[in-house]
Amino acid sequence: MRVDRFLSNLPQFNRQQARLLLIEKRVRVDGQIVSDPHHDIREFSRVELDEQVLQAGKPARYFMLHKPPGCVSATQDPEHPTVLDLLNEADKHDLHIAGRLDFNTSGLMLITNDGHWSRHLTQPQTKLPKVYYVETEQDITDDYITRFEQGVYFAYEDLTTLPATLELLGPRSARLSIVEGRYHQVKRMFGYFDNKVVRLHRESIGPLMLDSRLAPGEYRALTSEEIQQCCPAMQPL
Ligand code: URA
Repeated sequence: MRVDRFLSNLPQFNRQQARLLLIEKRVRVDGQIVSDPHHDIREFSRVELDEQVLQAGKPARYFMLHKPPGCVSATQDPEHPTVLDLLNEADKHDLHIAGRLDFNTSGLMLITNDGHWSRHLTQPQTKLPKVYYVETEQDITDDYITRFEQGVYFAYEDLTTLPATLELLGPRSARLSIVEGRYHQVKRMFGYFDNKVVRLHRESIGPLMLDSRLAPGEYRALTSEEIQQCCPAMQPL
């Protein structure tokens, strides 16, 4: 919400008074004086007027998790452990996953309570590269490189996947970079060649690489730089 609206929504100020407070440089957001009426106030922002705290701001939380195979990318599941079960954190119900992985896929998973941040990361327009290490049942040939670069037609959605980069690592292993996150996308791309994916591991999302110190099932909080790198338009926390 814009800061002028935030202020004028308070019972003590009308719109004109709210504007005046900003002009008089009496309003601070996260410790910085704000005079631009368009400045965005979020649930995480601390807003002060002179010495008075108008909103304390709830803590924004961001984690990277090394998802092991055999756990569900969901907040609840009747049968299997979920990625949230791996977190030893308070108020887990407040957290959500930014970009799911299949049950048997391992690797980098981002978890947060900041919907604005996770939407930015996952919306198709952002086109953040997601890099996967892939092992397959059959050999991977050079034809795959061209086909993935040109796009694979998905009849169910009636669309062609965006150009993807494939690097061959061995006869049956490769690194694939895609900028979308369609349902079972990697498996379906290899499925075009009737080649079954037998191991799938997400190494990175945009600038964020899975921390090699994290064993499967372990997680850590993201640093402020990492949070910012993923969403440069976001005001620093
Ligand atoms: N593509 C898939 O097929 N599965 C995943 O888990 C992620 C990408």
